[in-house]
Amino acid sequence: MNVYLVGGAVRDELIGREIKEKDWVVVGSDEEDLLSKGFKKINSKFPVFLHPETKEEYALARKEKKVSPGHQGFKFIFDPSVKIEEDLKRRDFTMNAIAKKDNGELIDPFAGVSDINNKLIKHVSEFFIEDPLRVFRCARFAATLKSFGFKVSDETINLMQTKFSEGEFLSLSAERVWTETQKALVSEYPEEYFSILNKADCLHYFFDLPDIKEVIELIEHIKKKYVGDVERWAAICSFLIDQKKTNELLKIPKKFSKLSEKIQECIKLFTQKSSDSEILDSLYKISFFRESSSARKAMELCDDLMKEKGSSLSLEPSLILNIVTKLEKSKNEINSSLKGMKDEDKKSKLTELRLNIIRKTRTNL
Ligand code: CTP
Repeated sequence: MNVYLVGGAVRDELIGREIKEKDWVVVGSDEEDLLSKGFKKINSKFPVFLHPETKEEYALARKEKKVSPGHQGFKFIFDPSVKIEEDLKRRDFTMNAIAKKDNGELIDPFAGVSDINNKLIKHVSEFFIEDPLRVFRCARFAATLKSFGFKVSDETINLMQTKFSEGEFLSLSAERVWTETQKALVSEYPEEYFSILNKADCLHYFFDLPDIKEVIELIEHIKKKYVGDVERWAAICSFLIDQKKTNELLKIPKKFSKLSEKIQECIKLFTQKSSDSEILDSLYKISFFRESSSARKAMELCDDLMKEKGSSLSLEPSLILNIVTKLEKSKNEINSSLKGMKDEDKKSKLTELRLNIIRKTRTNL
């Protein structure tokens, strides 16, 4: 049996990046043999085993055999006769299709080393189109490897534009697409992810963005101040036409959708002509009276987004900040005014007192 280091570990070592995890491929063996050596089979679509000591993943080399027409008409073969080159051929990118023997020798049938040297993200073969997630992986690699000078090859862009259907994209697991998106969001060039998806002509299935150029410009500006994925995601959402649709399609985790919803409310607050009670209503919607620090953060981020976009404002964010500061300062005073009141009267009194503060601050009294 021969064991090879494959995938991201070989790629990252050649690029000079930190290696995150090691994946291995086993050639000339089978399930029975590995189980007898103490490997534990894991729950996976393919035969993958955990090493008894290192707990790293070892997969049996596999190849596809065409059994019927169409690009789904393949059967997987895992027998000991499968060669490492056959296993590498079904991988996504040439930079990910290099195997390393334990003596350090590289098996590189698709010129992955040369593509790494030329800083090119390029598909290996026609097998690329078997998995539409690879389009998102491509965009994510473009974002994470841009700082090393990498670009997506024109042939790969062309393949992505022409070979996938809407149905294939929409049948992808939401979690897998979101994982790629999240990895891109925390990278140095998150805008590259959206730019490549746009070039691949699949951005619009998941993200309803009116003008990609504006989105890219905004991310380029705000990414220096906002390094977290939640804030960067909220910035992108400020452009989304149908935020609910994206939330549902990608099953966006709550902490992400919560901030984006607050930002939408703040945009409304800053850009629409609001009455005192509409301002109060917005403050309730962004949970200002329950979580004032996260509501303030949303307002600050929204203020930055509005400035970057050059949006025309109806209410100055500084006025709103003044209002919330006054509301916070009068908390004790308001509470003592409510002391001794019946519960059913408290609510309307509280609203009245808060509205008074808003009115006085607006009229500068
Ligand atoms: N792979 C593939 N097609 C996919 C997913 C993975 O061909 N849709 C292959 C690639 O050879 C990849 C390897 O499986 O390098 C391991 O995949 P994974 O661990 O998901 O990603 P890495 O490439 O290791 O990258 P990272 O760790 O940065 O996610």
